[in-house]
Amino acid sequence: MRVLGIESSCDETGIAIYDDALGILSHQLYSQVKLHADYGGVVPELASRDHVRKTLPLIQAALAEAGCGPEQIDGIAYTAGPGLVGALLVGATVGRSLAMAWNKPAVAVHHMEGHLLAPMLEARVPAFPFIALLVSGGHTLLVQVDGIGRYQILGESIDDAAGEAFDKTAKLLGLDYPGGAALARLAEQGTPGRFIFPRPMTDRPGLDFSFSGLKTFAANTIRSEGHDEKTRADIAHAFQCAVVDTLAIKCKRALKQTGLKRLVIAGGVSANRQLREQLQTLMLELKGEVFYPRPEYCTDNGAMIAYAGLQRLKAGQTVGLAIQVQPRWSL
Ligand code: KG4
Ligand code: ZN
Repeated sequence: MRVLGIESSCDETGIAIYDDALGILSHQLYSQVKLHADYGGVVPELASRDHVRKTLPLIQAALAEAGCGPEQIDGIAYTAGPGLVGALLVGATVGRSLAMAWNKPAVAVHHMEGHLLAPMLEARVPAFPFIALLVSGGHTLLVQVDGIGRYQILGESIDDAAGEAFDKTAKLLGLDYPGGAALARLAEQGTPGRFIFPRPMTDRPGLDFSFSGLKTFAANTIRSEGHDEKTRADIAHAFQCAVVDTLAIKCKRALKQTGLKRLVIAGGVSANRQLREQLQTLMLELKGEVFYPRPEYCTDNGAMIAYAGLQRLKAGQTVGLAIQVQPRWSL
């Protein structure tokens, strides 16, 4: 079975073709980062227009790369939410219309389910059940995953998502949007221990997160200590340690609470090297295993949507002719 996946929920146009016997046959990605950089964040209308320009050419490129025609595609999956309404509508409209023209089934995929299943694209695949830490620009979720579509949310952020906190703090440090990866690079030059940031909500029971206070803590530290090159790196280091420690503490709690031994991390922030290393150490200590996607499948991409779509297609979960998206949609 072979599925074409379309991702357009935010500022990346991702197109991929996944075959359940052969794996990923094509992976095309166009990032709008440069388009939005001057504005310090994603401008929804510009994002929609750029998806309009890129979606069909990337689908043509994906078919060429995979060396197949529409007749060899068994279904079309598109991200139906959560995300920016206009951006989602572009992918959904193209996906649903092509499915009708090609006489194929269409599948509406939840963006976070895409992230959650992205580690399944790797050679070493986690067996169910497992705990998933989903850390992206819009969401921070701890989920118990018992199977495809069997998700129990154990904890989530009550304010900023982890990626959002990275981006906002990066902005305070003078880095361009989205600054998560740049902040991580700056943190590598920082001196450990010069600043100690709080580990929010770790001193009480529960699995929820709160990251907005860390950004305020960073702003106050910049105000009192200045922002020379050295101080910026030390602040970035302290901030990253606080986020990673907090995520690791809650993962450990979730694993203990459920008795599970497998941990999956996915979403843009799962590309963070310190987070990967610390969770690897944790799982060694707990005699468990950690799984994560390769960096290009951590951030938004079409491959994860094609994979999730194929699972939903196998389960017969296709959609009718109406083009529907859900900008807000819980997992
Ligand atoms: O999953 P994603 O591509 O988009 C959403 O669904 O939101 O995640 C993007 C987020 C951004 O906040 C970005 O700054 C963050 O992931 N990110 C990182 C790193 N790479 C991307 N944060 C920390 N360290 C990184 N290496
Ligand atoms: Zn995402």
